Amino acid sequence: MDLEQIVADAQVAFSKAADAADLENRKARFLGKAGLLTERLKGLCKLAPEARKTEGVAINAAKEKIEAALAARRQSMADALLNERLASEQIDVTLPGRGQEPGSLHPVMRTWERIEQIFRSIGFEVADGPEIENDWTNFTALNSPENHPARSMQDTFYIDGNDASGKPLLLRTHTSPMQVRHARMNKPPIKVIAPGRTYRVDSDATHSPMFHQVEGLWIAEDISFADLKGVYADFLKNFFERDDIKMRFRPSYFPFTEPSAEIDMAFGDGRWLEISGSGQVHPTVIRNMGLDPELYIGFAFGSGLERLTMLRYGIDDLRLFFEGDVRFLAQFA
Ligand code: DAH
Repeated sequence: MDLEQIVADAQVAFSKAADAADLENRKARFLGKAGLLTERLKGLCKLAPEARKTEGVAINAAKEKIEAALAARRQSMADALLNERLASEQIDVTLPGRGQEPGSLHPVMRTWERIEQIFRSIGFEVADGPEIENDWTNFTALNSPENHPARSMQDTFYIDGNDASGKPLLLRTHTSPMQVRHARMNKPPIKVIAPGRTYRVDSDATHSPMFHQVEGLWIAEDISFADLKGVYADFLKNFFERDDIKMRFRPSYFPFTEPSAEIDMAFGDGRWLEISGSGQVHPTVIRNMGLDPELYIGFAFGSGLERLTMLRYGIDDLRLFFEGDVRFLAQFA
C-alpha cells in the first residue's frame, strides 16, 4: 500500500472515531507496534542504502502527517466536549436572585427566652451547666437507686471514658443535676431555673433523642408546696398569656422529691394536659447539696420546653421542631 493511501486512510479513520477511546484504538492500526507504518519501517533494512534513505524520509513524513491528523482530532473532540458542557451548564444571568431572608429564633428558643424572662421577673437566677454529666450528679446525688431503669443503656446515652471515680460519663437525661450543681456553689436562699438540652435514647412522634427541659429550684428555710403552686400558676398565666388556665397537682413519684406530683393544666374547660414533674426536694438531695435538711426545705420542678412550645402554638407533631423545614420555622419569625 502506498504511503499516501495510508495517510488518507488514517485521516478518514480518525475522523470517524466515535470518542476518545475509539480514537486511541484506531491510532494503533497506523502507529502502534504492529501498525502499518511500523511495519514499513521494519522493512527498511531489506532495502539498498540509497532506496532506504528516500523511503525513510517518506515514511517519516507520512508519520508526521498521521500524528498531526491524530492531534487535530483529539483537539476537536476535547473542544466538542467542552462546548457540550458549556451549553448544558449554562446559567441564566437574567434570573432574579434567590435573596436572603433574615433568620429568626427557633420556636423552642423563643420559649427558652420567654421562660428566662418570666422567672427573672420574679427573682429567679438563670443557671447553665454541662450536657456531659457524671453518674453521681445525674443519678446518685438525686437519690436514684443504683438499679434504676433510667440508668440503663436503653435509656441513657453513655460516653466513652470515665470520670475521676471510674464511673462512665453520660449525656444528661434531665436538667435535674443542675439542682445539685447550683446548690453546691451557692448559699441559700437558692432560687434558680436551669434551662437546657437533655438527651435520652428515645425517638418517635412524641420523643426526640435531644430535647429541652427547664429545671426550677427554690430552697430556703420556709418554702412550701404553696409556693410551688403560686410560682407555677403565675408562670403558666404569663407564659400562655391567658387567665383561663386551670392547674392541678396529681400525686406521682420521682426519686429526688418527696412528696412528688405531676402538674396538669387545662385551657378553660379543655382536657387536662400533663405539663411538668414537681415536688418537695427529698432530704437526701438536700444533703447532697451540702445543706442540712433539718434547716432547709424547698421545691423543684422540671418541665419540657418542646411541650410548652407545642401547647402555646398549637403544634401537634414534635418532629417538626427538628426537621429544619423553613416553611414551618418561618411562621415564628
Ligand atoms: N427530672 C424529671 C424528668 O426528667 C422531671 C422532674 C420531676 C424534675 C420532678 C423535678 C421534679 O425537679 O421535682 O422526668
